[in-house]
Amino acid sequence: MHISGDGLFTKKCHSLLEKLLGVHKVLLTTSCTHALEMAALLLDIRPGDEVIVPSFTFVSTVNAFVIFGARPVFVDIRPDTFNLDETQIEKHVTSRTKAIMTVHYAGVGCEMDEISGIAASHGIPVVEDNAHGLFGRYKGKYLGTFGRLATQSFHETKNFTCGEGGALLINDANYIERAEIIREKGTNRSRFFRGQVDKYTWVDVGSSYLPSDILAAFLYAQLEVREEIQAKRKRIWEYYYEHLQGWARDLGVRLPVVPPYCEQPYHMFYIVLPTLEQRQAMIEYLNEREINSVFHYLPLHLSEMGQRFGGREGD
Ligand SMILES: Cc1ncc(COP(=O)(O)O)c(C=O)c1O
Repeated sequence: MHISGDGLFTKKCHSLLEKLLGVHKVLLTTSCTHALEMAALLLDIRPGDEVIVPSFTFVSTVNAFVIFGARPVFVDIRPDTFNLDETQIEKHVTSRTKAIMTVHYAGVGCEMDEISGIAASHGIPVVEDNAHGLFGRYKGKYLGTFGRLATQSFHETKNFTCGEGGALLINDANYIERAEIIREKGTNRSRFFRGQVDKYTWVDVGSSYLPSDILAAFLYAQLEVREEIQAKRKRIWEYYYEHLQGWARDLGVRLPVVPPYCEQPYHMFYIVLPTLEQRQAMIEYLNEREINSVFHYLPLHLSEMGQRFGGREGD
């Protein structure tokens, strides 16, 4: 039985996702963080390059580029969806900008028409960190299919999971061959297995980014029943949204905003409380009733590392 990487179930996951999403190539990875690192390697990120990123995101969106020497250029988010504010991007573009990172917060799409337009006019690739957004759509098109590259997470916290896992989505066929090499420790092993070369060898930089087929089997079983999983999440999300309206209005609590042209995958139900004290009290109140809730991202430009890149309060 084949239980290392790229066995039967990995291939099943690849072809299912490629077919459903309409993506040139899907490669399962050991995490979304690792898929983001692969994106940085594929874009040849080098010291001194700049990457436009939202400050309100998970550390990996940024770190995957910083480890190759990039300088993160933090951009503010929109107050409604908490996604990258498309009106703030252009003024941060310089001759060193090598990528624009979009994070579809809670699986609700960023303003991709505007962002793709800005990126195209400057010839800068867009990379979608779609950790939250598998099967979400923006104006009818799947998230993860807009950027040259996109990444998914199959971490325990996500809608579909294998504990730890992810995927790289490749929408530009020019990246496919090198992506396979980078994922296979810098060797052309994938070509060898397809019979395209008679022995495999070290041809480029790379690492071990392919997950065990056991994880892929665990994931595939969920992808097979994706409609049931999504329908249940939708039911729960809509129940909260409907029944919390009056409570939220009375207490000044902000409920999620989902633009009508965004179909969300019901990854998260978030609320914004008026004060930090109320937020803490809410988390404790729920915890006492054995309901787990957490606070979410702290702006990265104000983190210890973010401040080293010049992030300041009020930016
Ligand atoms: C936006 C975003 N990007 C990347 C990641 C990292 O995902 P992983 O744990 O699969 O590396 C997360 C994790 O939750 C995330 O929220």
